Amino acid sequence: MARTLPYADMDKILSISKRRGFVFQSSEIYGGLGSTWDYGPLGVELKRHVKEAWWRSVVLDRDDMVGLDAAILMHPQVWVASGHVENFTDPLVECRSCNRRFRLDHLAEAAGIELDPANPAKSLEDLSCPDCGGELTDPRQFNLMFKTFMGPVEETASEVHLRPETAQGIFVNFANVVNSTRKKLPFGIAQIGKAFRNEITPGNFTFRTREFEQMEIEYFVKPGTDEEWLQKWVQSRLEWYVEYGIRRENLRLRQHGSDELAHYAKDCYDIEYRFPWGWAELEGIASRTDYDLRQHAEHSGQDLTYFDEETKSRYFPYVVEPSGGLDRGVLAFWLDSYDEEPDGDNVRVVCRLHRKLAPVTVAVLPLSRNDKLVSTVQDVHARLRRHFTTQFDDAQSIGRRYRRQDEIGTPYCVTVDFDSLDDHQVTIRDRDTMHQSRVPIDDLVSVLQDKLEHGW
Ligand code: GAP
Repeated sequence: MARTLPYADMDKILSISKRRGFVFQSSEIYGGLGSTWDYGPLGVELKRHVKEAWWRSVVLDRDDMVGLDAAILMHPQVWVASGHVENFTDPLVECRSCNRRFRLDHLAEAAGIELDPANPAKSLEDLSCPDCGGELTDPRQFNLMFKTFMGPVEETASEVHLRPETAQGIFVNFANVVNSTRKKLPFGIAQIGKAFRNEITPGNFTFRTREFEQMEIEYFVKPGTDEEWLQKWVQSRLEWYVEYGIRRENLRLRQHGSDELAHYAKDCYDIEYRFPWGWAELEGIASRTDYDLRQHAEHSGQDLTYFDEETKSRYFPYVVEPSGGLDRGVLAFWLDSYDEEPDGDNVRVVCRLHRKLAPVTVAVLPLSRNDKLVSTVQDVHARLRRHFTTQFDDAQSIGRRYRRQDEIGTPYCVTVDFDSLDDHQVTIRDRDTMHQSRVPIDDLVSVLQDKLEHGW
């Protein structure tokens, strides 16, 4: 299949996004709120399909995984024990002239300067404000956690954080899950949910925002097998992105240097995507050792060890953590699927999203608005919508409607025409091949289910 562009440029994606209803700026009628976004009618379906594909792959299709949905607000001690209160910081510098704020590590990276972790201020000699060239202040560590108050009194005692990662909800429920499911090592707990970070420099559309969703797994293993499991998860997660349509050449693995590892990590690989602005992280797969369970056991006074029936011993399991950003995943799948091909004197824009990720799976299109077609079209739509995400469209010519569906990535269009009234058949049109085939209405659901499972 022709894939003419290595990836879309952001302007094209932003234009489709707003025009077709994928993503809108949050609170737009009030001028927007910096770097916060709302998923529109198509975006929400795309996002839901990415979540479903992830959940199927890491929970439903495996015997060694279970799911969880923990609260966003957690006991304040969670963030003390996890180390986030002390360590979840970024180095903040401010321009003395224009007062804009930046992350020192981002400025250094953009300028090709290696930060000295022992003395980050030293790098300032070679850096200036990227906006106005002004002098920068000394860096200070800025904690990224959002604070709010629980209950009607705004005092320190009632302060809670919006979680900056979903992971801690899993760690604090480790004993609950073991006791309720009797899972044996190795096993994992998966969760999809919102996380919040007061990023100093959010940007690049939905790539770096202050409110986002994570898809996280904490995979508990016997100490000593963690390195092997880290490699298995790195491969399996990389393959997932390829299975769902991202071209392998637009993905790469990058192992963290010892100076960039998070405070809990022994080792970490990033799966990076070639975004239009360069390679950037989609997902991190970290080896977290027994750091979190030990910390929570110490701070809560609860026994969070695991009893190994084979060796009749108790120990803290080690943890491998594949942690992906849902919003970044959605953006990468979408960017990578964008394609253009010649169409006479025009250009056909085709979003070649994986058939299971596309926001609309089947479009139902009557050939015309003629009243004679109405009841058959309604019958076809009613049969399909029970099984697939569908969209009905009867506005403008059939050619234009196909193009509209191509642009949003709809893999199958079902057209009801006047022959359908006599032969009880409809036409299925494939997005990528544009091939059309006639199918009896009674077989439509099973034919489409088969295509969805096995491809065109
Ligand atoms: N529990 C580990 C953890 O949170 P992380 O690398 O900080 O690790 C995991 O975050 C993933 O969450 C990242 O790979 C990225 O996809 C996503 N993510 C992190 N910060 C984000 C932000 N500000 N906006 C959007 N996605 C973000």
